[in-house]
Amino acid sequence: MNKVLITGGAGFIGCNAAKRFLERGDEVIVFDNLSRKGTDKNLNWLKKQNGHLIFVKGDIRSRNSVNALFKNFGKIDLVLHMAAQVAVTTSVVSPREDFEINALGTLNLLEAIRVSKVRPVIINASTNKVYGGMESIKVKEGQKRYQYKQLPYGISERESISFCSPYGCSKGAAEQYILDYSKIYGIKTVNFRQSCIYGPRQFGVEDQGWAAHFIIASVLKKKITIYGDGKQVRDILYIDDLIDAFIKVYRNINKTNGKSYNIGGGKYNSVSLLEFIDLLEDSSNKKVKSKFRDWRPADQRIYISDIRLAKKDFDWTPKVGVKKGINLLFKWIKENKDLFNDF
Ligand SMILES: NC(=O)c1ccc[n+]([C@@H]2O[C@H](COP(=O)([O-])OP(=O)(O)OC[C@H]3O[C@@H](n4cnc5c(N)ncnc54)[C@H](O)[C@@H]3O)[C@@H](O)[C@H]2O)c1
Repeated sequence: MNKVLITGGAGFIGCNAAKRFLERGDEVIVFDNLSRKGTDKNLNWLKKQNGHLIFVKGDIRSRNSVNALFKNFGKIDLVLHMAAQVAVTTSVVSPREDFEINALGTLNLLEAIRVSKVRPVIINASTNKVYGGMESIKVKEGQKRYQYKQLPYGISERESISFCSPYGCSKGAAEQYILDYSKIYGIKTVNFRQSCIYGPRQFGVEDQGWAAHFIIASVLKKKITIYGDGKQVRDILYIDDLIDAFIKVYRNINKTNGKSYNIGGGKYNSVSLLEFIDLLEDSSNKKVKSKFRDWRPADQRIYISDIRLAKKDFDWTPKVGVKKGINLLFKWIKENKDLFNDF
């Protein structure tokens, strides 16, 4: 049995991970300031699960609150660091707040661990946005999607980091600190440069969590806005597969310590927005209403993670395909429509 601290544990990824760790018999501490809409609902749901759950309401920006976690809870084996300001658009409007939550918040966590005697493994949720616009990568335009001209497996970890947008900068700075605390202080850390993750309990909005947002809009019969031409491609990853990756990377920490991994659906689970809408219309048997607007800043034409390093180092590949994942999430949102009344 492990003791697992999940910062941002009432959020989409955090609460799903918390549930999985509780099911395994681990003790789970959720630390969250409940700032994201829907997190109160996630927390209520988590409290109903079996297992040993502790909730601490706190802000990652507060050194005292973060320090207290490592003073009060003794030995913690694993930290999943999920607390973050998560939207590029918000970061452009409020770059200081974005920095304080993502970069300084991560430093608060690392410092709290460094000065305590506790030595948990840290898995940090980073983002593919650390690679920036990747303007030099050749892309061709197809009828319904962009494609890489020369990268059959997508973007590997060898790609240069090139932060773009305040969100890219704050998450990028955070992940570099995460790596450095492994190098300089010997704390075991890993970064996941995540693509689009989707699944139940995701309160997706236009600014973040587009896959869930599209499905919620379709169930609520609302119009979707597509920014750009809809041919932009993402490799989407179902939440259960991400949690498998957390567990496997932790099990293999002696090999994975101090590394960053691209974690997404990979080339077999890539989909353009237009293709996603086609699949959603198949699932729902209904036409999706949509309109087009200009591209948003820092929006990549195509991003597909090369996930072969994760396969090699900790034997992980996604199991839930795009069609199945969309069906599962559509079914969940339809059955839990009441959760989205105020959306
Ligand atoms: N969902 C994705 O597709 C995706 C993709 C790439 C990276 N990520 C990263 O994964 C992590 C989790 O994302 P998510 O999709 O679950 O988002 P989410 O918004 O559902 O979860 C983030 C959680 O952090 C909490 N939080 C925000 N500010 C906080 C603060 N100052 N102090 C304490 N808690 C705070 C929120 O209340 C929320 O519960 C984030 O770091 C995000 O940047 C997510």
